[in-house]
Amino acid sequence: MASEIAEKYAQRADKYESLYEDKFDAIWNDILPRINIQEDARVLDVGCGTGRTLRHIMDWFQRNRLQVKGVDLCADMIAQAREKTDLSAIQSRGQKIDWEVQDCLTFLKSCPEEEYDLIIAASLLAYVEATELFPLINKAAKKGGRLIVISAAFDFTESVGLEIIKALVMEHFFSIHWSALFKKLTLVKPAGEITRILIASGFKKIVIEMRSMSVAFPNPLSCLKWIDETGLASQYLDIIKKKNKEKVLADIVKYAERKKIPIFGEEVKRDAPFVLNWPVYVISAEK
Ligand SMILES: C[S@@+](CC[C@H](N)C(=O)[O-])C[C@H]1O[C@@H](n2cnc3c(N)ncnc32)[C@H](O)[C@@H]1O
Repeated sequence: MASEIAEKYAQRADKYESLYEDKFDAIWNDILPRINIQEDARVLDVGCGTGRTLRHIMDWFQRNRLQVKGVDLCADMIAQAREKTDLSAIQSRGQKIDWEVQDCLTFLKSCPEEEYDLIIAASLLAYVEATELFPLINKAAKKGGRLIVISAAFDFTESVGLEIIKALVMEHFFSIHWSALFKKLTLVKPAGEITRILIASGFKKIVIEMRSMSVAFPNPLSCLKWIDETGLASQYLDIIKKKNKEKVLADIVKYAERKKIPIFGEEVKRDAPFVLNWPVYVISAEK
């Protein structure tokens, strides 16, 4: 499983950053002013990917002498993180950064207790069991330290337009068992369950906000191609053979338009501009 995940991101590592660019910036620009951070705070990002969140945080708090650590399972993602980080700029501000290729659970198990002021887990909960992750994060956080989780908000699955994909998968791939696929997507837990696990792990002052990552596309097909490239829906789209992909994605658009099925609440019109509103939870908790 771990090697499958690392492989999935190794394939996407070199274009990961350009696919997302600044698409999460609005969400972070909203979170960061509300965070009270110590002058020399220690920050940890588990599943840091290409390090874009940590760079954003270091730029935002550029007057603080942050000591920052990014941990990720995928060596290629960490290689990108190293490449994209301007070390001399960081050092000139008195900040420090360190990257590590490691399973975050292994890392946290050997991490000293009460080490970090701020811990980030962004788009990680699809891969790591929250019941294992949160207690370890709690142990690694200082008293009064904060955890920020960003997680796809798939509680309202009807808004995902799942029925489209279901119908198409059935049509194109009779051999695939739908319920097995559905289970994979629901790996991302609903907000209520995340809250219960946070409380059981020792966190308090839990605040959950619903946000969306909004991305404009010239048409719905270009949106689906982008989703495919990012891996956001790889549970579904990776099962479609590469040579069939273009046709299947075009069929999804036709089907959604014909049946008037919105995708994340947005009406689908084949040749009209389309705005993707990918729903995410921003969860903040304190030790
Ligand atoms: C969707 S990406 C998110 C990356 C980054 N947090 C961001 O917001 O851009 C998920 C990342 O989690 C990493 N990952 C998955 N399972 C992991 C684990 N057990 N330990 C550490 N990293 C993991 C993947 O390698 C990938 O880089």
